[in-house]
Amino acid sequence: MSAEELDLQVDSHSAPQINKTPERLAAEHMYRNFYPPLARGMRVLDRSVFKKSVPMTAAKILDLRMMGEIRKNCKSDWFNPPFQVKLQRMIEDEQGRKSLLLKPDAKKDDLSTVSEAMRGYIEKKVLELTDYTLELDYDAWNYAEIIAAILPEELSDELPQGFTRTGHIAHLNLREQYQPYKKIIGEILLDKNRAHIRTVISKLDMVGVASKFRTFPMEVLAGDEDTQVEVHELDCTYSFDFRDVYWNSRLEHEHRRIVDKCQPGEAVCDVMAGVGPFAMPLGKKRVITWANDLNPESYKALLGNIQTNKVQPFVFASNDDGALHIRQSVRKLYKLAHSPSNRIAIPLSAKAAKQARRAEIVAWEGQKPAPEPTPVPGYIPVPETFSHFIMNLPDSAITFLGAFIGSHYKMEHLFTPHTQAELPFVHVYCFQRPVDDEQDLKDIAERCSKYLQFNLDPSAIDLHYVRLVAPNKRMYCASFRLPKEVAFADPASVIQESDFTPEQREELERLIRWEIIQ
Ligand SMILES: C[S@@+](CC[C@H](N)C(=O)[O-])C[C@H]1O[C@@H](n2cnc3c(N)ncnc32)[C@H](O)[C@@H]1O
Repeated sequence: MSAEELDLQVDSHSAPQINKTPERLAAEHMYRNFYPPLARGMRVLDRSVFKKSVPMTAAKILDLRMMGEIRKNCKSDWFNPPFQVKLQRMIEDEQGRKSLLLKPDAKKDDLSTVSEAMRGYIEKKVLELTDYTLELDYDAWNYAEIIAAILPEELSDELPQGFTRTGHIAHLNLREQYQPYKKIIGEILLDKNRAHIRTVISKLDMVGVASKFRTFPMEVLAGDEDTQVEVHELDCTYSFDFRDVYWNSRLEHEHRRIVDKCQPGEAVCDVMAGVGPFAMPLGKKRVITWANDLNPESYKALLGNIQTNKVQPFVFASNDDGALHIRQSVRKLYKLAHSPSNRIAIPLSAKAAKQARRAEIVAWEGQKPAPEPTPVPGYIPVPETFSHFIMNLPDSAITFLGAFIGSHYKMEHLFTPHTQAELPFVHVYCFQRPVDDEQDLKDIAERCSKYLQFNLDPSAIDLHYVRLVAPNKRMYCASFRLPKEVAFADPASVIQESDFTPEQREELERLIRWEIIQ
């Protein structure tokens, strides 16, 4: 599309008029010539259209020693648009003389258009007003200004502004009406964020609708077709293919909140671990973590992330269904705690490892003992029971709660009053159509009770509001201590009625019959 074909109505263009103060509207009007040329309806990005020359007035500073003072005293005269225009506000001519750009209504031939202070400096010949032509192009404006010049007027009230960043990928959620402009929106977004972004994608469907693994079909709108990302969160590094696994950059705070609840040396079962955003920081904290995810791609990424973050001694990955995992892991952890591998060596720090190496050399050479005490690796014993279960699959995690019925069958002797250990906390995530805090808690308690087959009193739940995922959809985390009536129940009939395969059922029954537990 050429510039002529586009509707270049420079004067009539301004940013969307919603929720603006009269001052802001007046400023926008004054600076109307500094918006990009209109290119309504452009679908294929033509950057050359966004060029314009704007006649202006500048203040040439004749006595450079006065620059600081002039800048301070003539604040109301300077070029200060209410939107972003990237340009040199101070210009320099061939002789090295500096000029400052003035606001649009300042006129060289009409001194009433500048402040009294500036008139004073002109009189004292400290500065003089000159004509200046400002050349603007595509690079001068930000994403919002360019996109507002392109979209049809009826769409420009609410510009598609927000995007989420995952590594080098910008992820846009475009509403139906913006779909015809998706490619150009992607391209401009990429142009204006090249420092951090290489790829712009858009969701083709609702998360979870297309995949039980909470992934979504996506389309690359602009940039590289590369969806393998590296992201950082809570001092950990994650690599994964964003097409194949779930990741949400908005959950960092929630991941931290749960990690803060877990203590070094405790055991935690992360039932729907994804690529490990709970498990990695837990491992770094020396919390023994059983990280499970049913998605084979998440499991693959989980294994890689365990290596990258050097948490191998503390994080164990598995690729099972969550319900099976809950039942199996309780028994398997107990078994591990009673096996020869029932303690985990704490890896030495780099300094301690160097000291240990030096001590070895000294001993080998038959010299005197090392000057500093030789560090010995510490050990963390594997606990017999988990302290926390994390279940972050808000769509359906509550329906997995039945897996706790009889999960600790015949294990009463491992908990108070026989030992110091308490039954584990369960942190189960869910979505809720909000009513009010009290009603939400009551509803969630009822839903949990149904699957636990136990009346869980709302007062036993610590309900944490995580975030609003849609206008009428809240994400919550319900934390409660596993009731003993649920944990120690006889699971035989529940297991028989469950969806497990005959082999899985047999395996579970074998685990539960372990003599060691009786
Ligand atoms: C919302 S994501 C949460 C991932 C991670 N815990 C986080 O906080 O980012 C839910 C995860 O549950 C996994 N998942 C889905 N169904 C599952 C099941 N039946 N058993 C175990 N994991 C499952 C998905 O693959 C996905 O990684």
